[in-house]
Amino acid sequence: MKIKKPRGTRDFLPEEMEKRREIEKKMREIAELYGYREVQTPTFEHLELFTLKSGEAIVEEIYAFKDKSGRDLALRPELTAPVMRMFANECSVMPRPLRFYYFSNCFRYERPQKGRYREFWQFGVELIGSPSYLADAEVIMLAYDIMENLNLDFELHIGHVGLLRRLLKGVDADKASKIMRLIDKKDVEGLEDCLSTIGLKDMEDKIYALIDLVGGREVIEEARELVPDFDFDYIDKLCDCLDSVGVDYKLDFGIARGLDYYTGVVFEAYAEGLGAQNQICGGGSYRLAHLFGVDVPSTGFALGFDRIAEICELGLGRKKLAVIVSFKGLENEAFKIARIVRQSGMQVVVDVMQRSLKKQLSYANDIKADFAIIVGEEELKENKIAIKDLKSGEQKIVEMKGMIDFLRSLD
Ligand code: HAM
Repeated sequence: MKIKKPRGTRDFLPEEMEKRREIEKKMREIAELYGYREVQTPTFEHLELFTLKSGEAIVEEIYAFKDKSGRDLALRPELTAPVMRMFANECSVMPRPLRFYYFSNCFRYERPQKGRYREFWQFGVELIGSPSYLADAEVIMLAYDIMENLNLDFELHIGHVGLLRRLLKGVDADKASKIMRLIDKKDVEGLEDCLSTIGLKDMEDKIYALIDLVGGREVIEEARELVPDFDFDYIDKLCDCLDSVGVDYKLDFGIARGLDYYTGVVFEAYAEGLGAQNQICGGGSYRLAHLFGVDVPSTGFALGFDRIAEICELGLGRKKLAVIVSFKGLENEAFKIARIVRQSGMQVVVDVMQRSLKKQLSYANDIKADFAIIVGEEELKENKIAIKDLKSGEQKIVEMKGMIDFLRSLD
């Protein structure tokens, strides 16, 4: 019987895993250079953690289930809420700010398509405890550094949910949240329908004008005209800071973000070559911990790891691979030699199929090995070994004690 993998999930073969691990390593290195330290939270949480802020409607979009004791649980759809829960439970008295990063799988019950999966990975950070624009500046710089270091072709957009929220002041919370989601999804028809039912023409026109505002710092002036009672000082200072360190971005006051907890600066990065699902990073400042009893300003982002892996062309530094080929009866010798070679840091594969020398060599070529180390009776008697360079086809018999040096010289 053939069993397929569940819809929206993927298998990763070694080549892909090697690439993913390489990308992950780069992301970790850079986050650690900024002083972030890794955390991990459970794969499933109490469902309440995700409905507290977003309401019951979110249940449609997540993997929610009852366990055998009837508890309502959910596979995490993201990590900000879990990390803030952890913060409130375990770290609320630690010196602030706290700098956490994570790399974990998330689950969303979405309609799968290219770049959109039901199980996907996020690499993210949360900077907890600072209300300053400097905290937003830092996480934006970090996201930018990671994307640049991976040689991605991306555009970074920065906005502030406070402007749209200001325009929606007076609209009831559910409706305002629905409007923000429609803006986030760029669902123009849905937005028109929803706004027309509210019937505030002036607000409607301003919302359309605001979400079209994308550009350099000059768009702040236009935004000021649309939302005159908003204090743009924070955005100005953030832009000064990012400009001074050479982060390249566009201001975009149409960023609404799909999650409800954002309160201030928000940002997203879009990449070439991904089609419709081109958002590779999303983040911003938010308030969430107060739901768990500790009120603290935070900011962070998550990179869509799978989308990045799809477009990232890292040069993979592949290690050299040797294959030990042995005549019948010398299998134990082969394992012994393999241990010696591995101690030098070289990858070694030993034949475990007990097949002919010819077949072993052909397999070595199939798996793209660099050398074959041939264990033969005659050579062993003289403490020697035959080494074949599989690229050039050249073969040489060397002293056993000089084997590692010789292999290194072939690099
Ligand atoms: P998000 O924008 O929902 O934000 O997700 C972050 C990134 O995860 C997206 O930009 C996208 O690249 C990737 N992503 C989301 N859904 C899928 C999917 N179904 N398949 C593949 N990739 C996907 C958050 O989750 C926030 N927690 C980010 C944050 C951290 N804000 C503050 N701190």
